[in-house]
Amino acid sequence: MILIVGGAGYIGSHVNKQLNLQGYETVVFDNLNYGHEDFVKWGIFERGDLGKIDDIRGVFKKYPIEGVMHFAAFTYVGESVEDPQKYYLNNLRNTLNLLQVMLEEDIKYFVFSSTCATYGNPKEIPITENHPQNPISPYGKGKYMVEQILADYSKAYDLNYVSLRYFNAAGADPEAEIGELHQPETHLIPLILDAAMGRRENIQIFGTDYPTHDGTCIRDYIHVLDLADAHIKALKYLQNKNRSEVFNLGNGHGFSVREVIETAEKVTGKKIPVKEVERRHGDPPVLVGSSQKAEKILDWHPQYQDLSLIIETAWRWHKRI
Ligand code: UFG
Repeated sequence: MILIVGGAGYIGSHVNKQLNLQGYETVVFDNLNYGHEDFVKWGIFERGDLGKIDDIRGVFKKYPIEGVMHFAAFTYVGESVEDPQKYYLNNLRNTLNLLQVMLEEDIKYFVFSSTCATYGNPKEIPITENHPQNPISPYGKGKYMVEQILADYSKAYDLNYVSLRYFNAAGADPEAEIGELHQPETHLIPLILDAAMGRRENIQIFGTDYPTHDGTCIRDYIHVLDLADAHIKALKYLQNKNRSEVFNLGNGHGFSVREVIETAEKVTGKKIPVKEVERRHGDPPVLVGSSQKAEKILDWHPQYQDLSLIIETAWRWHKRI
């Protein structure tokens, strides 16, 4: 069985669905602070908290877990600057708790959700896995520290990991059974769709004076199902190759904030009111990843290359919530 920690959240729930569709047995472990119980439509659900080591031990005693995927993290970059302790306790200390029990139980496979935020302000685009890692926020630093710890653990112990550095996760399950639902929502695409539905007055563009072709930030949007596929391939890699690796997961194409808004207008058929405001602190102008390594080694080929297809799935889901 595969343990999906944080499997009631956005990315974890999509991975859970895909694992089950492919015949894996899963146990979702989530404290539901940010996750949604009704996103756990597949596998077994165990409510528990990574801050309580006995909760973790309990789930490993109860089920024959072979591998672990870890999605349970706080992800608000701005909040991590204002309240770093919240991030280090959850994203770092609680991950150490999980790893401690994994070592006690002799679990050999770990897939870790890392982020392009571990690179900090990029020196070169597209960003490859060899790009220096200089994270600038406590969120990015915590993820980077876990990566360093994993490298040490895998050398010393019988534990292998794959660390997946996501670019901007986007879109939803095309069957709209699950999707993106953050409270509060800060991500560009769901906020644009809220504006399209009239749930908010407008979408604010954070900065129009960046050194990009239209002055707005460029990001690499990768569909959540493509991310899910990469996780399953990473698990198979661990089971077959018995070694550790890190991979970027992006589409390799950048879209500006204005381009995302224009595409959303086409997909939804609605005019989306825009308000241009100041830059948001800490946003690099361009984040685009090279995923050639994952393509080559994991045979991973993202299917959702077209931004309008990504937004279409997000829109289908968004109309249901
Ligand atoms: N943006 C706006 N208006 C909004 C929201 C966002 O203009 O109302 C812009 C941002 O400035 C940014 C782009 O849209 O340029 C995307 O912003 P998101 O907040 O959707 O995503 P981020 O790129 O900030 O964050 C993502 C992940 C984080 C991860 C980070 C790495 O959500 O978890 O990438 O940089 F850490």
